[in-house]
Amino acid sequence: MKRTSRVPDLAETEKAAPEVQARAPRTRRYHVGQQEIIQGDCLRILKRMKPESVDLVVTSPPYNIGLGYRSYQDRRAEDDYLDWMVGVAAAVRRVLRPDGSFFLNIAGTSAEPWLPFELVVRLRALFALQNHISWVKSIAVPGDSFGHFKPVNSGRYLNRNHEHLFHLTLHGDVQLNRLAAGVPFKDKSNIARRGHAQDQRCRGDTWFVPYETVRDREQKFNHPGTFPVQLPELCIRLHGRPDPVVLDPFMGTGTTLLAAHRTGARGIGIEIDPDYVTIARRRLKDAAVS
Ligand SMILES: C[S@@+](CC[C@H](N)C(=O)[O-])C[C@H]1O[C@@H](n2cnc3c(N)ncnc32)[C@H](O)[C@@H]1O
Repeated sequence: MKRTSRVPDLAETEKAAPEVQARAPRTRRYHVGQQEIIQGDCLRILKRMKPESVDLVVTSPPYNIGLGYRSYQDRRAEDDYLDWMVGVAAAVRRVLRPDGSFFLNIAGTSAEPWLPFELVVRLRALFALQNHISWVKSIAVPGDSFGHFKPVNSGRYLNRNHEHLFHLTLHGDVQLNRLAAGVPFKDKSNIARRGHAQDQRCRGDTWFVPYETVRDREQKFNHPGTFPVQLPELCIRLHGRPDPVVLDPFMGTGTTLLAAHRTGARGIGIEIDPDYVTIARRRLKDAAVS
């Protein structure tokens, strides 16, 4: 099908987010082992990075749903938000290697369900949608349920137990290591019968990754929108390159860099809020010594 949208250029996309420019603090860089943390505005920093220097990007941007971040205001006019996110995606595309993967985690709300779809449709001008993974946070199966379930609080909407993980690539032809992110066979007789060399099969595109149980907000680093470390870890394993460079332009508390540390990857995390940067540095230092 013919595409009418065009790839925005970077100078243009920077102009699309004047508030971000005005608020952008001075850039600071920190290193913990192989991991690099850059404090500052991701659009500015991405623009200064070398083209085609990153193997994969795993990120969860603000969703524009009014979450209470320390400094970032998570509620702006929808078109401003979408223009800004397309600008960030264009900047990501520039730094991504031609065989790179961009894993974009995003969700809507019951009241605003269209936003993630609006965004990913706009991203057609920049990327192919190679896989659409559902990140399942809680699930009921016959006779049991897993993960945390919120109380029933609406007569209209089902509880939202999943989020999107869009796997975007330049042309939709990136070779993945499906078994590195796979799961063991339930019925071991299938290993030989199906001609597999190892007890590992493809996980599919529905990933059950629950949050760890925490007692208070402190244990979630007082951050309203973290993801579990297993999520970026699976993305890194699935992309499957040896010694990859992993980028998270919306690093938050450093979860993607923690996954990079666990998998032996080199991570680069960008975060605008100095308090979240401090938390990420502490998490990485704790992981490095444990
Ligand atoms: C959904 S959170 C990411 C959470 C992260 N995945 C984690 O597990 O901690 C989005 C983050 O983007 C940050 N942010 C917002 N605008 C930014 C910008 N222009 N540049 C860099 N970071 C930004 C927010 O402060 C917030 O921490």
